[in-house]
Amino acid sequence: MSDPQHVLAARVQAALGAAFGEPDADPVIRPSQFADFQANVALPLAKKLGRKPRDIATAIVEHLDVADMCETVEISGPGFINLTLRNEWIAGRAQLMHGDERLSVEPVAAPRTTIVEYSSPNVAKEMHVGHLRTTIVGDAIARVLEFLGHHVVRDNHLGDWGTQYGMLIEHLLDVGEDSEEGLLLETDPNAFYQTARARFDGDPAFTERSRRRLVSLQSGDPETMRHWERLVDLSKVYLHMIYGRLGVTLTDDDIRGESFYNDMLADTADQLSADGIAVISDGALCVFPPGYAGRDGDPLPVIIRKSDGGYNYSTSDLATIRYRVDKLTADRMIYVVGSQQALHFQMVFAVARMAGWLPEHVAAEHAQIGNVLGADGKIFRTRSGKSIKLTELLDEAVERAGAAFDDVPHDEAFDEVSRREVVEAVGIGAVKYADLSVARDSEYIFDFDRMISFRGNTGPYLQYAAARIRSIFRRGGLTPEDAIGPIAIGHDAERALALHVLGFGGALEAAGDAAEPHRLCAYLFDLASAYTTFYENCPVLKASDEETKASRLALCALTLHTLTKGLDLLGVTTPERM
Ligand code: ARG
Repeated sequence: MSDPQHVLAARVQAALGAAFGEPDADPVIRPSQFADFQANVALPLAKKLGRKPRDIATAIVEHLDVADMCETVEISGPGFINLTLRNEWIAGRAQLMHGDERLSVEPVAAPRTTIVEYSSPNVAKEMHVGHLRTTIVGDAIARVLEFLGHHVVRDNHLGDWGTQYGMLIEHLLDVGEDSEEGLLLETDPNAFYQTARARFDGDPAFTERSRRRLVSLQSGDPETMRHWERLVDLSKVYLHMIYGRLGVTLTDDDIRGESFYNDMLADTADQLSADGIAVISDGALCVFPPGYAGRDGDPLPVIIRKSDGGYNYSTSDLATIRYRVDKLTADRMIYVVGSQQALHFQMVFAVARMAGWLPEHVAAEHAQIGNVLGADGKIFRTRSGKSIKLTELLDEAVERAGAAFDDVPHDEAFDEVSRREVVEAVGIGAVKYADLSVARDSEYIFDFDRMISFRGNTGPYLQYAAARIRSIFRRGGLTPEDAIGPIAIGHDAERALALHVLGFGGALEAAGDAAEPHRLCAYLFDLASAYTTFYENCPVLKASDEETKASRLALCALTLHTLTKGLDLLGVTTPERM
């Protein structure tokens, strides 16, 4: 990797090994305001060894081999090591990165089989903005980890099983498949669901029939199954449409819904009771993982089998863990799901560890997703209090993107077809980037004006930045592929830009390790800002001499490549022209 922070870490580590036999100490390399980077390891190591930090720093520097890389190495304060890079090193690494399709990001040495579970909407209901966010964030996590070289298994844990399907099927049979109400299932599933729900809540005879229908479903009655399959298929058609428009990489093959685990539930419950981990409490089979108590101080149960014999959401998640660990040989499982379910996952993971289904070496992480709020600070809904239809939301984003697009200067005229393509990419990119750029576990207010702005940390700003770089090449009658350099550093702004570009691999790794795409967004936004400063200070096509021009064109091409690759890993497309 070309990331200077990584290279310096390796060099300091070698010095730590040579000087103290401590190659495992974290070198603590940080960006610094006094130099390019600072190695801060001397302080913690001095404490550990009971020596003076300054002496430790001196010994590290004596053993540090960075002559090729650093212009100066200075010890400051109590024992910080200030490291300033050589311009030639920066230029050389940038040149290597420029010539590499993978931008010098080598695939990880130890790939992990990583399940990324995301989207996971419920059948026979439209997705709401919460599912939109888990879908977008999850897709970016999957893309980044895959690019880093991990073996990623995408998993759409569709909510396709449970009580409500008895209710929906019973309602469908009552109204008739081909009736106007029956066809609502295809055109407005939420309306269909609500009518069924109202009957379920208000008509005891219907409730009873729905319960019996659920039993028929669970026992595989062919007629009931046929209707259930149709519900699932209709949802798949709807999901295809949404995923396609969003450019989300999930396919039908990635769907392993709750129903998939149905015939593993009994065994899961039996094992837990055979091992004495689950006990009967108030007629239900429960596990009480240590450390979880309710407000009253009573231990909290994970209900495995209800008193009526039915299995629970948690049982299904336990069976899912067994399948992923045993059959998919997962090393890491990332659940991209709303933060409301935090306690559910903590307790399910705890039970799985107790049962030995989740060995120490397998990581189970709930990548929490915060709520999307309306301007009133409450869960985002329409004025009338209904949940927002996703397609309408995307249509509005595209429409507003059109207005914003017409407001910024363009080098060229757009015909109607190409304008429509660009505006679709900008509208969708804006919505996606808004979901990605805030820390995934924090709430944020859905605000069209902010996300569609061509200024600030937004999708349109970054798309526009990329398009502006492309337009330089067009104006010069060149392509980015023509810009072979060599890269040389003359101006401070060139240096700052090249140095930032070199941080790409590190930013990706940080985003992948933490499953936090917003880290990559922050990196790309800073990259675009460094580029702007460069562009304002360093003429490219009108550079004073041919060498400078060749170097600057290469820097432009490298920035463009990094920007588009980064946006692509976030699932945001970059139009050629804007
Ligand atoms: N279908 C659920 C919902 O919409 C999310 C599923 C989360 N994943 C899981 N393994 N429980 O709330």
